Amino acid sequence: MKKILFVFGTRPEAIKMAPVIKQMQDARCKMQVKVCVTAQHRNLLDEVLDIFSVKPDYDLNIMTENQSLFQITTSVLKHLEPILKKEKPDMVLVHGDTTTTFAAALASYYLKIPVGHVEAGLRSYDKFNPYPEEINRRLTDAISDIYFCPTLTAKKSLLKENINPKNIFITGNTVIDALYMILEKKHNFQNPTLKRLFNFRLPTSDFPLILVTAHRRENFGKPLKNICRALKKISQTFTDSKIVYPVHPNPNIKIPVKNILGGLKNVYLTEPLNYPDFANLMKMSYLVLTDSGGLQEESPSLGKPVLVMRKATERPEAVKSGTVKLVGTEVNAIFNSVKKLITNEREYDKMAKSVNPYGDGLAAKRTVEFIEYYFGLRIKKPGEFYVGTEEVR
Ligand code: UD1
Ligand code: UDP
Repeated sequence: MKKILFVFGTRPEAIKMAPVIKQMQDARCKMQVKVCVTAQHRNLLDEVLDIFSVKPDYDLNIMTENQSLFQITTSVLKHLEPILKKEKPDMVLVHGDTTTTFAAALASYYLKIPVGHVEAGLRSYDKFNPYPEEINRRLTDAISDIYFCPTLTAKKSLLKENINPKNIFITGNTVIDALYMILEKKHNFQNPTLKRLFNFRLPTSDFPLILVTAHRRENFGKPLKNICRALKKISQTFTDSKIVYPVHPNPNIKIPVKNILGGLKNVYLTEPLNYPDFANLMKMSYLVLTDSGGLQEESPSLGKPVLVMRKATERPEAVKSGTVKLVGTEVNAIFNSVKKLITNEREYDKMAKSVNPYGDGLAAKRTVEFIEYYFGLRIKKPGEFYVGTEEVR
């Protein structure tokens, strides 16, 4: 029986790996699943593990307050070595672009263990945007043996880098699987602020609900302050709007956010939300303002306009479809883009259409089938994920 070791450590990796783990744990699948979490994130990770009932076999517990990239990389390498030597997996499966992802791929390479990369091939081609994720993802792709691309664009990037096409598979993004799994259940908000706002009232049609997240390293300092100033201006101009901002626990984020936005009447700063609360809030929101990667994939599938507070994106598909717009991190650029969406119905309608360039909810199933195919456990190559009339590969 082939043994697959999943290694991940942050909230988004856990959300996006959970559907693959569940699929592989299905009794019909003939592969053995082992899970190792680095716990690069602690509380954010544990909440996701709990929601998807994923029980790690190993927990490296590496997170420290305000950790550096050096600390994450060296801790993962050091703690993973004995586990890889003991388990001798047939493949290590990593996800995306975090420092856990890269360090786990590197550790596996040092021991000549094949690496599978879920969400491979995304590129901004700007090495400091997103930082350090662009380089984490490129290095992980350089190390990997099998590639699960969410889209044709990602596959094309890998082909340009001379990766063997035989080992690249288009699956769609597993975040859409996770989102569907959560949204199909009836929901009552758990977070106290959201409970007060929404559980006992008819929501959101009375006021524009603006959902905000921001946590990127390249936005620390002035860009984040600008983002907060723009939010303040929005809240003071559109006094009937409600801005809900679940604040990332990183001290580089939560301190300036609290300083600039704390105490404003229509700005609701909350703790990070558990995934069901967050997904349902996204579904109710009027628009999304973010620097996150995952939200650029989830929100379009819910028909929500997304304004991305970054210089570059490695996810161009929804920008092309018109539901995602890059607005940067200048106060007026952010303010004016929000103003346009609140005051101009036609502009809003142009962006608020549901598109699914990132997935159809079957990405985890495809990923597992492609791994079986790669190991010769399946004869026929499974079908890939297509969008509309995309030309084939
Ligand atoms: C990390 C990833 C980023 C990903 C993001 C998802 C890297 C370099 N960064 O960024 O790619 O988009 O996760 O959220 O891999 N903290 C807590 N509790 C937690 C998590 C974080 O207190 O559960 C605080 C700690 O002080 C920690 C700090 O946040 O040191 C930063 O965490 P870190 O994982 O280094 O960076 P993120 O910005 O979360
Ligand atoms: N998310 C969540 N609670 C929050 C904020 C985000 O569950 O308070 C989810 C969100 O739906 C998405 C993922 O976390 O699936 C995105 O994580 P994050 O923004 O931390 O990382 P990124 O996507 O930028 O790597």
